[in-house]
Amino acid sequence: MLTYKEILDKYLNYFEKNGHAIIPSAPLVPENDPSVLFVNAGMFPLVPFLQGQKHSKGSRLVDGQRCLRTGDIEEVGDESHCTTFIMLGNWSLNDYFKKEAINYTIEFFVKELGLDINRIYASVFGGEEDIPKDTESIEIWKELFAKYGIKAEVGDRIQEYGKNKNWWGLASGGPCGPDSEIFYDTGKPKCGDHCHINCNCGKYIEIGNNVFMQYLNKDNKLQPLGRHNVDFGGGLERITALVQGVSNFYDTDIYKPILDKVKELSKEENITSQRIIADHIKAATWIVMDGVIPGRNQQGYILRI
Ligand code: SER
Repeated sequence: MLTYKEILDKYLNYFEKNGHAIIPSAPLVPENDPSVLFVNAGMFPLVPFLQGQKHSKGSRLVDGQRCLRTGDIEEVGDESHCTTFIMLGNWSLNDYFKKEAINYTIEFFVKELGLDINRIYASVFGGEEDIPKDTESIEIWKELFAKYGIKAEVGDRIQEYGKNKNWWGLASGGPCGPDSEIFYDTGKPKCGDHCHINCNCGKYIEIGNNVFMQYLNKDNKLQPLGRHNVDFGGGLERITALVQGVSNFYDTDIYKPILDKVKELSKEENITSQRIIADHIKAATWIVMDGVIPGRNQQGYILRI
């Protein structure tokens, strides 16, 4: 069984083999941007480079970025929410574009991790307002699935959504664009006739997202960025659960030892509370790793509570 760390190493090595320079995870506390307390997406530290600043390591980069999100903290304790995660990320800074990006992602999932192509589904941007439908990605997906002997149709294996699902950029603005997400069928039954790949019932899990960053969101107005970047992100905790064949994060090798210890020390059996404690121990450790100490405001306050 591949461990969390082995999956991360496989990802970095696969992209390095394909011309990407491995860059270290940036600190969890943003270095030059006070708009958020913690880095919450793999691309966050790369914004200047996605906007055109030259990166010293070149135009193809890969990393595993530590991220912290408190937006859905109330959901932590169920099977699929946690506050800290590593986001696997690979970037093309005005280098390759859609075809290479989608093919790299699937080759990594299928050939390197052994995920089953028959259980993979894709979403693409279906067009909205003045931004056209991403027909190029649809053709790329069809061709790719055909290589594996799968006849992929729009409306089935490939599904179209609008900006609410298939558009990505930071809330504060900056580089953004249509995206194409990758979903994995967990094998659970559909929740009903209307179940679809973006349904929250747990049948399909999103395992990665290629954002095609060709636009700049400035003061809530879109303008061409003048560059064709790719920003891939995939949650390592989720991917690890699938690769390890377990139904939730807390049974993967990154959480299980913490959860086992929490269970051993608990006076009563309450799995939700035990998972919350395991999650918060991991989050607090990551925050402390970046030099934050408990305090009354900013990052220190999050650590304290
Ligand atoms: N930035 C995109 C996301 O967070 C892809 O990395 O989904």
